[in-house]
Amino acid sequence: MKRPVLAANWKMNNGPTAASSFMDVFIPAYHPRTDRTIIIFPPAVSLPVVAAATVGRSDVLPGIQNIHWAEKGAFTGEISASMARDAGAQVALVGHSERRHIFGDTDINCAKRCHAAAKAHIAFMLCVGETIEQREAGETESLVTKQLREGLSQTPNLISTEFLLAYEPVWAIGTGLTASPADASAIQSLLRSQLRQMIGTRADEIPILYGGSVNSGNAASLLATDDIDGLLVGGASVEASSWLAIAQT
Ligand code: PGA
Repeated sequence: MKRPVLAANWKMNNGPTAASSFMDVFIPAYHPRTDRTIIIFPPAVSLPVVAAATVGRSDVLPGIQNIHWAEKGAFTGEISASMARDAGAQVALVGHSERRHIFGDTDINCAKRCHAAAKAHIAFMLCVGETIEQREAGETESLVTKQLREGLSQTPNLISTEFLLAYEPVWAIGTGLTASPADASAIQSLLRSQLRQMIGTRADEIPILYGGSVNSGNAASLLATDDIDGLLVGGASVEASSWLAIAQT
């Protein structure tokens, strides 16, 4: 039986006041369950609110949407992994497609962020995924393999590091288009086999999530797909009632 990971990526939504209202609804309504893990990635300014609301709830983990790889210093506007941990983050999202495509994040920078998270003793969730042009050019497999291998290339002792992966086809993010369970499953299984080459049977313990236009209507069928170990949800995670329905799928 798999233990799915259901992750909410609020993106640039839910500042501290809205985050507090969200948690006031979500936490009392979502009863602790041992058969799944919930992660919430708020904007960094709302992380303390989410962290405070999840004290005593080991089934709901606060996360951060991005971290810088340096520990501290002259990097205006950035947040280090140890600062994120200090504010309550237990997981850092790395290489989300919006970071890659809007803010120019590269595989090498992602690799440094993964290493920084591991060094600060927080888990990381490395995101990979192809654009529609790359898919149509038949480049999906080679691209996600490169993103995976380069993204993980600077984390020493990967075999004993806590991390997750998310496959998010860029053409499915925020568009209402979802990869078919079969398409998603094929890429998830490719990622798993690459990971096995890298870390052997430990690969079977690494959750590989799917993301891209997930909502309460399609969550169950995606989760029922063999190679999908969880869901990374953007738009449908911003409102507490919608997220509650997905968390309880
Ligand atoms: P979406 O976003 O659910 O709004 O498509 C997913 C994501 O970007 O993580």
